Amino acid sequence: MNIRLARIDDLSGMQAANLINLPENYVMKFWMYHLLTWPQISFVAENGEGKIVGYVLAKIDDETTDANSAEVHGHVNSISVLRSYRRLGLARRLMMLSQEAMLTVYNASYVSLHVRKSNKAAIGLYKDTLGFSVADIEKKYYGDGEDALSMKLYLKR
Ligand code: ACO
Repeated sequence: MNIRLARIDDLSGMQAANLINLPENYVMKFWMYHLLTWPQISFVAENGEGKIVGYVLAKIDDETTDANSAEVHGHVNSISVLRSYRRLGLARRLMMLSQEAMLTVYNASYVSLHVRKSNKAAIGLYKDTLGFSVADIEKKYYGDGEDALSMKLYLKR
């Protein structure tokens, strides 16, 4: 298994994995915008045949917290791993590479994400393995009315 930075020619494989794994899907322009704008923080896992079996797609936000300072933080838009490649540590490794790059390349102070409150596997990954905590519950965040947990992890050098 090879884990590396995502490239433009990976986008169709990333989008295919997203369509199989999640109801939150995006047009190609959205995927491309992320890789072109923040090329250092999205990663893929590819198998021996070069097939994309997992990805993390992330962005950087500049959030003005007071008149003089902007708190830069990373945001994970989407992560997934194909079913037959799960519980091998791929998502943990993808997340850790993205977090590390958010910190070293952009000096991001924290990373945020949204997750369905019923998504036990992903919540286990974020909370137990990576150390995220719940910052907020966003009611009816998803198209089908499900609530989202808004989660955060402060990044340390
Ligand atoms: N049940 C409980 N805990 C789990 C599960 C599960 N099914 N899967 C992973 N975890 C937790 C465990 O703590 C695990 O550590 P352990 O194996 O030592 O017990 C830890 O996460 C790390 O697991 P990984 O092997 O790194 O995770 P994996 O590569 O299997 O991917 C993922 C996890 C991405 C959630 C996968 O199940 C998946 O693709 N699900 C469908 C898509 C999805 O829900 N994506 C997240 C949506 S939210 C967002 O994108 C911001």
